[in-house]
Amino acid sequence: KKLIVAASCVLALIAGAAHAQERNLRIAFDVPYEPFEYKADNGELTGFEVELAEAMCKEMKANCEFVIQAWDGMIPGLLARKFDLIMSSMSITDERAERVLFSEPYYNTPGGWFARDGFSTDVTDMDAMKGKVVGVQRGTTMDTYVTENMGGIVTIKRYTTADDMVLDLEGERLDVVFVDYPVGEQTILTKEGFQEVGEQVKLGQGVGVAMRKRDTDLAKDVNAALATLKENGTYDEIMKKYFNY
Ligand code: ARG
Repeated sequence: KKLIVAASCVLALIAGAAHAQERNLRIAFDVPYEPFEYKADNGELTGFEVELAEAMCKEMKANCEFVIQAWDGMIPGLLARKFDLIMSSMSITDERAERVLFSEPYYNTPGGWFARDGFSTDVTDMDAMKGKVVGVQRGTTMDTYVTENMGGIVTIKRYTTADDMVLDLEGERLDVVFVDYPVGEQTILTKEGFQEVGEQVKLGQGVGVAMRKRDTDLAKDVNAALATLKENGTYDEIMKKYFNY
């Protein structure tokens, strides 16, 4: 009888240890934001950040669940514990860093201007831009930039999703879209009749994983996992799949 008790104690200990190691993480994406996060033709969630998240979870030995969250509710959703990490091309800014904890940057993306062929206005010439309609995704660094630098000059159309914005550019309800460059490159320039206009603008201090301020241990593990993926070539491999450079 003693032996059985001892054996079951050992089993309980093993189970307990395994349980303690298990980490469940929910990661939020705003979809579609191709090539970062979008649904493939078969409906599956894919993209640079989705694959990076998968590799990161494997490295951290975490059980991850992917959550779709509209961009404008990202930080509120994180703070309300609807999920634990944001991996949605969120640029690191001082303003956001007051509310969330960012990992080391894992990507860098400037904002790019996109228009239909034939658009020849200099986007930095505020006289010429007067009355033009500029589209941005609401609450992004592009929104902030346009609001601060072109407010009252151009008409700013703010979109909940990036794809609605691209549709409006195609439908001529907009003159110019200002969006993270790779998104414009892969969702606008791949279609006939569009061009990049003006110079790209550096916004934020790179893109990072956003977490709650208290989750400093999690942030350490995230940074360690990202560093490993960069060292062992996984990061470059994923990168190559989604970017042409
Ligand atoms: N990089 C920009 C920002 O941080 C836009 C990101 C939008 N991301 C998305 N998945 N819709 O504000």
